[in-house]
Amino acid sequence: MLSYRHSFHAGNPADVIKHLVLAEVLEYMIQKDKPFDYIDTHSGAGLFELSNADAQKTLEYKQGIGKLWDAQLEHGALQRYVQLVKSFNKNKLAFYPGSPKVAETFLRREDKGWFFELHPQDLALLQRNTEHKKSLRVRAEDGFKGLLGLLPPQSRRAVVLMDPPYEIKQDYESAIQSIIKAHKKFASATYMIWYPVVDRDRINLMEAQLTASGIRNIHLYELATSADTEERGMTSSGMIVINPPWTLFNTMQSVLPELVTKLSASDGFYRAEVLVSE
Ligand SMILES: C[S@@+](CC[C@H](N)C(=O)[O-])C[C@H]1O[C@@H](n2cnc3c(N)ncnc32)[C@H](O)[C@@H]1O
Repeated sequence: MLSYRHSFHAGNPADVIKHLVLAEVLEYMIQKDKPFDYIDTHSGAGLFELSNADAQKTLEYKQGIGKLWDAQLEHGALQRYVQLVKSFNKNKLAFYPGSPKVAETFLRREDKGWFFELHPQDLALLQRNTEHKKSLRVRAEDGFKGLLGLLPPQSRRAVVLMDPPYEIKQDYESAIQSIIKAHKKFASATYMIWYPVVDRDRINLMEAQLTASGIRNIHLYELATSADTEERGMTSSGMIVINPPWTLFNTMQSVLPELVTKLSASDGFYRAEVLVSE
């Protein structure tokens, strides 16, 4: 039984770092005049209306995109990300694009988008949000398994976003194991795994498992809005990126301090680390 709905969380600080990294990776992919496949294993609805009761109940977006919307932004990557969100809105912040819509803004006619989603309501919304283009394909299947069925892609170039809800503890293990299997089938894709820090030990274990897997060229980028705690739920979140664009480390290392200043409390911090070198 799936109960997680991303509509409660859309546009929060976790989405900011996730979608900023996603946008930077896709921007890099389209520099090359060769098609690629984008695979989103846990897609959500695609687009979120922030006046909706779920978003209004938590108001999480006010702690993320809401703090950046009118802010004076220094870093080009942050300006590009906010501009991308603005392209879904008129003057006021009313809509927030989920990963499928962020990706769609980069995908060219020759690229393909694959979107997995299991929640019946989010699936219906996702179908509606992607039906205008044949190159965007929605699958009502388990994304951990579905990913393996798409590899290696015909295009021989791929970007994968794995963004499970981690509502069940098994998601931590499933994410790592399915990325390791996917990497065995197709080693050259750029794989991104989003993770929440609710219990730091779980993330330490994920990092240790990936580091021991033999996979090379793994980076980690994290934004903590406050210090780790065992009492308050998610305080931090990040993206583990396998085969990142060579430009990404410098971008993240220079943009994360600004994000911490804009979104975090005084005990917030960031991480930009090479977990395994090339
Ligand atoms: C964190 S949300 C995704 C948010 C989205 N990636 C974004 O950035 O806008 C996770 C989604 O995964 C869906 N989901 C949960 N388990 C799944 C599975 N095994 N396969 C595919 N989707 C799943 C949930 O219904 C939920 O919509």
